Amino acid sequence: MQLEKTNIILGITGGIAAYKTPDLVRKLIAKGAKVRVVMTESAKEFVSPLALQAVSGNPVSDDLLDKDAEAAMGHIELARWADKLLVAPATANFMAKLTHGLADDLLSTLCLATPAPIVIAPAMNQQMWLADATQANLKILEQRRIQLLGPAQGEQACGDVGPGRMLEPQEIADLLAQQIFEQVLAGKRITITAGPTREEIDPVRYLSNHSSGKMGYALAIAAQELGATVTLISGPVNLLPPAKIKTISVSSAQQMHDAVMQTTHDCDIFIGCAAVADYRVQQKTNQKIKKSDSELTLTFIKNPDILSDVAHLANAPFTLGFAAETQNLREYALGKLQRKKLNMIAANDVSDSTIGFNSEQNALSVFWSKGEKKLDVADKQLLARQLMRLVAQRYTEDTND
Ligand code: PMT
Repeated sequence: MQLEKTNIILGITGGIAAYKTPDLVRKLIAKGAKVRVVMTESAKEFVSPLALQAVSGNPVSDDLLDKDAEAAMGHIELARWADKLLVAPATANFMAKLTHGLADDLLSTLCLATPAPIVIAPAMNQQMWLADATQANLKILEQRRIQLLGPAQGEQACGDVGPGRMLEPQEIADLLAQQIFEQVLAGKRITITAGPTREEIDPVRYLSNHSSGKMGYALAIAAQELGATVTLISGPVNLLPPAKIKTISVSSAQQMHDAVMQTTHDCDIFIGCAAVADYRVQQKTNQKIKKSDSELTLTFIKNPDILSDVAHLANAPFTLGFAAETQNLREYALGKLQRKKLNMIAANDVSDSTIGFNSEQNALSVFWSKGEKKLDVADKQLLARQLMRLVAQRYTEDTND
């Protein structure tokens, strides 16, 4: 019973996926949770409060200004009762309200009043999910540690196909149980690199790559969720530093190397997710290179290999490297695992433009000396959670060997 003694407020907002929530309540209760349901007015158009009262065994709350309900369990009391506030389905409108801190009904008020972590399982049309406004709201919510479950890809009620389907009730219940109970990295210090590096050529030009930092930032958040103290060393990206994570901004590979070496002496786990430039120009010019000849020749020299240097330290932490490959994924990843003396390597196929560099999703093949595991294509935050749990497992087994 993974959710035993866990009080969950299930907030239901007005989307078609609301019809699945009686089943979600049953799945949460089957894991041992106590569930109280809060509905918005529009949610009641999609699913009956009576059905939810019957499956949860508790009266459904829906009104901030209901004297009788306030006399039984007031909204502040309800907010304090919760160990987790789960909103499923969470519509685009609800996400916007949450982003801006509106409190014009019971559910949005509870979101402000509860000290409990908030988890949302979005559900909406794929175009609405991909809309700039929703994505901007999502970024802010993730910075604030609102946890995201899904959405899944697939066929939608409106006939569209794409991201925006609510995860199935069983998946939501499983993920919630994992998040609540596995503080498996409590007390561990983890350093993670993310994003690209920039190698300057002259005062206006540089050499870089398409890394957005999303994968590395997602790993930092996932590691912190599991109880770790995280230092994130980031190349230049367009992401806000995750709240409560020490984030050090660097630009070049050499700067990233120096920052990493200063933190790894007291770190337990090192994860190299950054796309570090292998080479830099031998001689950066102080003045802008002028267009003169028909050809321009630059000489490049090797940058330090950060990951390999960490893994070869006398007191090396547990190291996880990444391998970005366009072919022979397994062979090249296993080569890097051995050559760089790593504990684990996570390989992604970056020839597929829908995953890897600068996309919302990724898929990973993870290898270690005695095993391997495939993590199927998923949103980077979900994938990061799966990968961090695997890292925690491997770390514990390796240190107990
Ligand atoms: O940032 P996103 O847009 O979310 O994209 C994520 C990602 C595709 C960048 C990420 O999943 C990824 O694959 N990161 C590693 C990219 C890379 O540089 O791979 P590589 O195979 O060239 O390098 C192997 C490993 O050595 C990596 O862990 C890298 O961080 C490390 N390395 C490489 C060169 C170097 N000089 N120093 C290093 O530490």
